[in-house]
Amino acid sequence: MTYKCCCFLPIVVICVVFFLTCESEFQTLAHLKAQRTSRTQTQAVRELMRRLLGVRAAEFVLSVNRSLAAGGLDVCEIRSAQNNIVVTGSSAVAVATGVYNYLKYFCNCHVSWSGQQLNLPRPLPPVTGVLRISSPHRFRYYQNVCTQSYSTVWWDWPRWEREIDWMALNGINLPLAFTGQEALWQEVYLSLGLNQTDVDEFFTGPAFLAWNRMGNLFRWGGPLFQSWHVKQQYLQYKILDRMRSLGMMPVLPAFSGNIPAAIMRLFPNANVTKLSPWSHFNCSYSCTYILDPRDPLFQHIGSLFLSKLVTRFGTDHIYNTDTFNEMTPASSDPGYLSAVSRAVFASMTSVDRSAIWLMQGWLFVHNTTFWKQEQIQALLHGVPIGRMIVLDLFAETMPVFSSTKSFYGQPFIWCMLHNFGGNNGLFGTVESINLGPFEALRYPNSTLVGLGMAPEGIEQNPVMYELMSELAWRKEPVNLSKWVSLYAARRYGSSNENLTASWKMLFRSVYNCTLPQYKNHNHSPLVRRPSLHMVTDVWYNRRDLYEAWRLMYSAAEPLMSVETFRYDLVDITRQALELLTTDFYLEIKDAFHRQKLPELLTAGGILVYDLLPELDRLLSSERHFLLGLWLEQAQSLAENEQEVQQYDFNARNQITLWGPAGNILDYACKQWGGLMEDYYAQRWSLFVNMLVECLDRGLPFKQDTFDQAVFKVEKGFAFNRRKYPSKPQGDTYDIVTKIFLKYYPEALKRLK
Ligand SMILES: *[C@@H]1O[C@H](CO)[C@@H](O)[C@H](O)[C@H]1NC(C)=O
Ligand SMILES: *[C@@H]1O[C@H](CO)[C@@H](O)[C@H](O)[C@H]1NC(C)=O
Ligand SMILES: *[C@@H]1O[C@H](CO)[C@@H](O)[C@H](O)[C@H]1NC(C)=O
Ligand SMILES: *[C@@H]1O[C@H](CO)[C@@H](O)[C@H](O)[C@H]1NC(C)=O
Ligand SMILES: *[C@@H]1O[C@H](CO)[C@@H](O)[C@H](O)[C@H]1NC(C)=O
Ligand SMILES: *[C@@H]1O[C@H](CO)[C@@H](O)[C@H](O)[C@H]1NC(C)=O
Ligand SMILES: *[C@@H]1O[C@H](CO)[C@@H](O)[C@H](O)[C@H]1NC(C)=O
Ligand SMILES: *[C@@H]1O[C@H](CO)[C@@H](O)[C@H](O)[C@H]1NC(C)=O
Ligand SMILES: *[C@@H]1O[C@H](CO)[C@@H](O)[C@H](O)[C@H]1NC(C)=O
Repeated sequence: MTYKCCCFLPIVVICVVFFLTCESEFQTLAHLKAQRTSRTQTQAVRELMRRLLGVRAAEFVLSVNRSLAAGGLDVCEIRSAQNNIVVTGSSAVAVATGVYNYLKYFCNCHVSWSGQQLNLPRPLPPVTGVLRISSPHRFRYYQNVCTQSYSTVWWDWPRWEREIDWMALNGINLPLAFTGQEALWQEVYLSLGLNQTDVDEFFTGPAFLAWNRMGNLFRWGGPLFQSWHVKQQYLQYKILDRMRSLGMMPVLPAFSGNIPAAIMRLFPNANVTKLSPWSHFNCSYSCTYILDPRDPLFQHIGSLFLSKLVTRFGTDHIYNTDTFNEMTPASSDPGYLSAVSRAVFASMTSVDRSAIWLMQGWLFVHNTTFWKQEQIQALLHGVPIGRMIVLDLFAETMPVFSSTKSFYGQPFIWCMLHNFGGNNGLFGTVESINLGPFEALRYPNSTLVGLGMAPEGIEQNPVMYELMSELAWRKEPVNLSKWVSLYAARRYGSSNENLTASWKMLFRSVYNCTLPQYKNHNHSPLVRRPSLHMVTDVWYNRRDLYEAWRLMYSAAEPLMSVETFRYDLVDITRQALELLTTDFYLEIKDAFHRQKLPELLTAGGILVYDLLPELDRLLSSERHFLLGLWLEQAQSLAENEQEVQQYDFNARNQITLWGPAGNILDYACKQWGGLMEDYYAQRWSLFVNMLVECLDRGLPFKQDTFDQAVFKVEKGFAFNRRKYPSKPQGDTYDIVTKIFLKYYPEALKRLK
């Protein structure tokens, strides 16, 4: 095993000497560690608990002692003393994780994106002896490069603060920290001689920056305003300071070779490749330029950027960049691929000689035709072993480590991707995440150094993220049935046989996806542009979902004041209506094919005039499902009318057309109040009307004609300027009751 740590040596001085001289230090990754003192971290975790628990935080005696970390592995001890709970850990993250573990399993409490349940018992339940929790993994990674666009793009500091608290409670110590980088790229490019027009032609708008950074897109939704740069940099200072105080190691961006077109005007001899169009875009916004890493200009730009970055924001010596994300390299020659990664790495070490390159392994999953064993090994071996960490990004469904001899010796992190586009929809792969990490650890000559979560979007399916986080602190898989029972009890603060049964039912259905062709990418007809050829199957038994719905509804009345319960009740009701939409769609289609106008009018009428409006009312009644909030957050960053319009357009386009012409239509679909009414219901209405008209006049349904008409509706939404409520409307319980009484029997009737 290469990953034994030379810093087992107890004497710090010797470690320092090793740090400067010993090459194997890098192979151990031992220099990646929290840099803030025990005292600073202690202070930071105490403040976190005050934010979380208010005055009750005084009952916790917290302290960080960095020398407790054996071999860099986090550990935490919890015991009782008088009426207090004493928690000591190797980092602020370890202490926070220890406290959260105590809150979950002794106090029946819970913290999530969709609310918290912190009804603390008084006095605090004592711990017998010493409760010791530890992680066998050096790193617990969090975020995908897309999360920044799909979820955090409009966040202010209070929202970031809550998220960083959540990260600490869930044990994360290696978070991506990509905010504010465009300000630095702009400085770099202006200093090279580009002018503001050149830069403005390059950056996309805020909601599309992830794909600008990856070299997929330019200019779409842009340009970026100077006020944006100022605000994002301010945020990044606060984000990094907080992460570091809590003992995390934020991952900063580095240069991938993706450049503005204008670079070629200034450096006509640079070795630049124009890429082919990305996804369904054409060259008006895609076909970006990539600078060959072997060109000296690559080193120049890469080190200019990185030295600015390190000067301004400091560093924890770990950088992410992805050279070939969803793009085919110029050559499959192993010599070329090694030279490329060697050059990318050199541009990092020229600024920070202890740099570690964190790379998303998505490319190996995305194009298995190009990336054969030889190509993967060549790319990975261009960098010295131990100086790169690969994220096995979608390991729960398409693991790469097992077909690459554990990334040919490079360290890797086993990640649950779980979510695409920030879509709503109950989904999970509980069996795979419960077993996968332990199999990865046991794999022969495994180079596993951590577990991670890399969702494209967050604020959905909180249960999956709580489970995955916990698994990084366990030595063996959990008993899922037992785990989910405890989860249900703490999420709502009380146990109830019906809720336990409901959650068990969810774990064996929606959350137990074992078929790789299904991903948490919502393809249900509800959120797709209607046609006569839509995907209608699901990976689970629909009866289970309806039964879980019935059980949850039966327990609802006394729990409606509990935010987490309201959220789940809305979410499961939403899922039931999503399934029913598919049923009505099939009836509409069938009636059309059989030329039965009354049946078509009946099914279409229920869907368009009742089910979808009810669904909109349902979503509008719960804070976490509001289009208005997303738009309000976007607009609140604007300084003037021009910015208001741009941010509003970015926010609306990303979740609908995703591009000027529906290029990645509905990829980032959301089931939100307001959007359901003005976007999805509108196009279903048009679809049903057109079918009725065709049937009435004996004409065939022409998808082309429909697509042109519906595109106007979709585009209309982006510019309607309507203001949607950012506060919930209506009584959730009444709305759910009405829906349940009407549609639960309809649902059962349609089960075979
Ligand atoms: C920190 O832990 C080390 C190792 O267990 C111990 O020797 C030391 O006394 C502790 N420091 C404090 C301040 O408790
Ligand atoms: C930037 O340079 C281009 C090419 O020389 C030129 O067309 C454009 O007007 C310049 N923009 C500014 C703001 O100077
Ligand atoms: C430019 O890069 C390509 C591969 O990307 C290589 O084939 C070519 O030789 C390079 N040209 C020069 C002038 O270095
Ligand atoms: C995968 O790589 C091959 C070349 O090996 C290329 O022809 C193909 O277009 C690539 N596919 C994707 C989806 O990028
Ligand atoms: C593990 O590594 C050892 C030593 O490098 C090697 O002999 C052995 O073949 C490896 N095992 C597997 C299964 O790759
Ligand atoms: C899992 O826990 C349940 C109790 O919730 C128990 O009935 C069951 O036997 C356990 N399963 C295993 C495999 O231990
Ligand atoms: C569970 O639901 C049933 C109806 O299905 C009801 O009779 C029973 O009282 C419920 N139990 C609890 C604890 O609410
Ligand atoms: C998930 O499904 C598999 C069969 O596909 C089954 O063996 C397993 O027990 C299920 N897990 C849960 C939690 O229901
Ligand atoms: C690219 O797509 C845009 C938007 O749909 C369209 O207006 C433009 O004509 C297309 N350009 C090319 C070169 O095809």
